[in-house]
Amino acid sequence: MNFIKTAVVALLALVALHQSEGNSTFQTQQNQCTREQHRLRYHVSPAEHWINDPNGMVYYDGVYHLFYQYHPYDTVWGPMHWGHTISTDLVAWTELPIALYPDEIGDIFSGSSVVDFTNSTGFQTNPDIAPIVAIYTSAGGEGQRQSIAYSNDKAMTFTKYEGNPVLTDPNSGDFRDPKVRKLLNGKWVMALAVGNKIEFFGSDDLKTWNKLSEFGADPEQGSHGGVWECPDLFPLNVTLAAGVTLEMWVLIVSINPGGPNRGSAAQYFVGDFNGTHFISNPWVNTQWLDWGPDNYAAVTFSNEPQNRVIAMGWMNNWLYANNLPTVAWRGQMTIPRTLELRDLNQTSNPIRLTSVPTSELEALRNPLEYVGNNAEFTVPPQTVIQLTEQATFKNPAMELEITLEITEQPGFSLCAYNAGGEEICFGFNETRWYLDRSKTGNTGFNQEYAGTLYATAPREITAEEMKIRVFLDVSSFEVFADDGLTSMTSLFYANEPLDMLYLNHWSDAGSSATLKVKNFKVWGLVCWVQERTKN
Ligand code: FRU
Repeated sequence: MNFIKTAVVALLALVALHQSEGNSTFQTQQNQCTREQHRLRYHVSPAEHWINDPNGMVYYDGVYHLFYQYHPYDTVWGPMHWGHTISTDLVAWTELPIALYPDEIGDIFSGSSVVDFTNSTGFQTNPDIAPIVAIYTSAGGEGQRQSIAYSNDKAMTFTKYEGNPVLTDPNSGDFRDPKVRKLLNGKWVMALAVGNKIEFFGSDDLKTWNKLSEFGADPEQGSHGGVWECPDLFPLNVTLAAGVTLEMWVLIVSINPGGPNRGSAAQYFVGDFNGTHFISNPWVNTQWLDWGPDNYAAVTFSNEPQNRVIAMGWMNNWLYANNLPTVAWRGQMTIPRTLELRDLNQTSNPIRLTSVPTSELEALRNPLEYVGNNAEFTVPPQTVIQLTEQATFKNPAMELEITLEITEQPGFSLCAYNAGGEEICFGFNETRWYLDRSKTGNTGFNQEYAGTLYATAPREITAEEMKIRVFLDVSSFEVFADDGLTSMTSLFYANEPLDMLYLNHWSDAGSSATLKVKNFKVWGLVCWVQERTKN
């Protein structure tokens, strides 16, 4: 209980800090910033020990809850618990005590949470507080089975349902990661990863489930280079080029291995869900949520107050996750991203899922740390422009927003770098984006990691204007190009902070390709991850 009290007090203090407008607040935050090597300054990472997938993401009564796969006794994967962190603004997070511990049915694998506003479960004890129900996989001696636990105190404590497990299938070995949502007809629907496919189940009360359908076993349905995990199913509106707005359904499916740039990644399908079946159209063409090496198991918040679809992923890759060169902790989440559908107005496969940083993250911009330029200028081939040359600050946590205009496919890169020659770059080469972490310092801590230093992605459109946003943190680089049509996420481990930015137009000297900077803005970002003292 004391634990909770401390956490709540800490949360209130954080909220107060955020609401205060004085510049001194920003200075204080920077001064108290963590000095731990590689520790991210504005991303979720646990104070200590191992985390993987985000779980049970839910909003209720002013608070976003993010649970996650947590091994509280080591910095490598082990018996899974649900760790817990909360935020009022999706910017600063406060770590709370462990929410779910392993029990006699098994360890607590990935899953989701919902708010049971109609008390369909009968779990409600206080008429003013709706139960929050966690639906997760119990992984134990008898295999993988689905269980539930409920909270009547706004997700501060959970009670496991005495009838667990609520969904079993002795014939399926991989049978996990339930993601549940409520349909407009009042029924609950669960998407579950079952080996090489997704199975859908329906329920009236979250306790009794019946199978509705399955999707994906056909080897031509999406990518099958690995096992399917952590599905998410949600509707989104899309405005078609013709001006009509319609609702479509998106199914995200993580896959490990088999990602576009090796290892773990998340693919998605766009189609229709009629209450029982998901119909993807067309399903031959695999689409990726993120083309970088480090965004896995991404799922979305339920009960998001503005009805947005906000995803967070585990910023990691099973290829090397157990070997990241961090000491006290291992594992971190991506920034929250708002997902939307866009019509590319092309003949085949025109609908894309876009990811952009949630607007709340603008609160990270430190008003004392800004440099930018609104005057358009041309960058000749073989020319490097120091974007942070005029900056009065150096910060290993920065946001860059840049608008470029190109003709004839110039080759260029945008890099975060340090004086020691270490750098991470996002660039464009002919028709593809690339992300290059080969010069980030510690690239040899794991052989698999060393095989993932260069990632590429197709550019989805041919517009001359290119908008690119980059979120840099001490050991992470997240890029959103063409208003989120392509995102690439990457960890890196530099010896010294990468705290400056440049743009390199590296086309051949005689090239007729042109590169223009229309404008750019760079902000140093506020650090909310403070120096942590161990008890
Ligand atoms: C995905 C995953 C899930 C599983 C969890 C176990 O990263 O393998 O399928 O529930 O991790 O920690």
